[in-house]
Amino acid sequence: MMTKQRADLTFKDNLKRGRHSWLRLTPAYSVKIVEQILDENPHIQSVLDPFSGTGTTGLVASERGLKCDLWDINPLLVWLAKVKCDIYTPLQIAHIQQISQEIIIFANKVPINNLWFPPISNIARWWSNNYLIPLAKIFHAINHLCPIINKERNLLYIAFCQIMIQWSNASFNHQSMSFKKPTNQMRLFDESEETMIYQNFIEVVKEITTNANQALASQPTIYLQDARHPSNNNQVYDAVITSPPYVNRMSYIRELRPYMYWLGYLNEAKEAGELDWQAIGGTWGIATSRLNDWTPDNAVAIPNLQTIIQKIDISSPTLGHYVHKYFVDMSCHFANIYPLVANGGHIYYVIGNSKFYDTLVPAEKIYAELMQSHGFIDVNIQVIRKRNSKKELLEFLVSARKPA
Ligand SMILES: C[S@@+](CC[C@H](N)C(=O)[O-])C[C@H]1O[C@@H](n2cnc3c(N)ncnc32)[C@H](O)[C@@H]1O
Repeated sequence: MMTKQRADLTFKDNLKRGRHSWLRLTPAYSVKIVEQILDENPHIQSVLDPFSGTGTTGLVASERGLKCDLWDINPLLVWLAKVKCDIYTPLQIAHIQQISQEIIIFANKVPINNLWFPPISNIARWWSNNYLIPLAKIFHAINHLCPIINKERNLLYIAFCQIMIQWSNASFNHQSMSFKKPTNQMRLFDESEETMIYQNFIEVVKEITTNANQALASQPTIYLQDARHPSNNNQVYDAVITSPPYVNRMSYIRELRPYMYWLGYLNEAKEAGELDWQAIGGTWGIATSRLNDWTPDNAVAIPNLQTIIQKIDISSPTLGHYVHKYFVDMSCHFANIYPLVANGGHIYYVIGNSKFYDTLVPAEKIYAELMQSHGFIDVNIQVIRKRNSKKELLEFLVSARKPA
């Protein structure tokens, strides 16, 4: 049977799903996949997502009143997942709607020389001045009128992030972020555009607060945690439902940097490379040069993997190291996750394969072998969808069980 691209099983479909739509980030996986796993396994009462990203698993679990813990290594995503799954009272929601009007009145009066701009390199590539200035005015007004970190400010930041990216030159139509082609030359400051941005902010706040008003039956607990070396919290879970980074050199930091610079999670380019190096599959900035010097502490005893790495090594030793390190990291993760799964519990990993030069990296098969080598049984690989125009690039659900 032909495998289809199934846009309904990507983050794009999440955009129609209330709180799931708050920030359109390519790392997010499909709400439907998590729902389907939980529908088919009604005995699951506690869930862990060790690579939780935007918190999709946590939000689905919260909608069903399940106990759920989330881990991610990226502090922006930990913040986002917390805000998405938080409880908002009618009073807080009314306050946010009222304050959004005050923000616009205040923003209109902020002198330009009071404004702060994020220290992102080559800022003009991201925003033209006629958009950047009203955005910086709104950001200034939010911080001035909500000087304390609280639920109100968090939701206003989500609204800000939405419009900040909407009025940027960033384009998320491909697998990773790129810049739109400039459509016009230097433009004079246009007051009507400033008004449009302010109106856009008010509309986005309205939409976000409508979603926030919908109650959740439980809340996940979210930790800034490295999934390779989790601290022992003595928890066991009925199921792990997750989607780790793919072996495709996509850098989450690169994708997320506009949000991270505006919200203060990044202050200089050096930090971006450091954070990417900590993430599994990170290859951006300093992470690339560190990969060249990397040698494994532990070998991954999968003969097929060694052959794949040797083939990639011939074309690029850096990429050979990249693929090798990725699976050493994932092996470490599977070893440390095993004790956290309840006896008889299940693990579900959504993962894509990839291709470097002519060498296919069948991540799903290597995952299956890693799961088995760490003690899981009944390993199953299911194709979910085709990822792009290349017929061999697919997304899989790899699942397994811990013996009872
Ligand atoms: C494919 S994304 C997960 C997307 C998520 N399912 C969602 O719907 O948003 C993979 C995530 O793994 C995180 N990550 C990478 N290395 C990690 C590590 N060592 N420990 C924990 N999280 C890590 C990344 O920050 C990223 O958010």
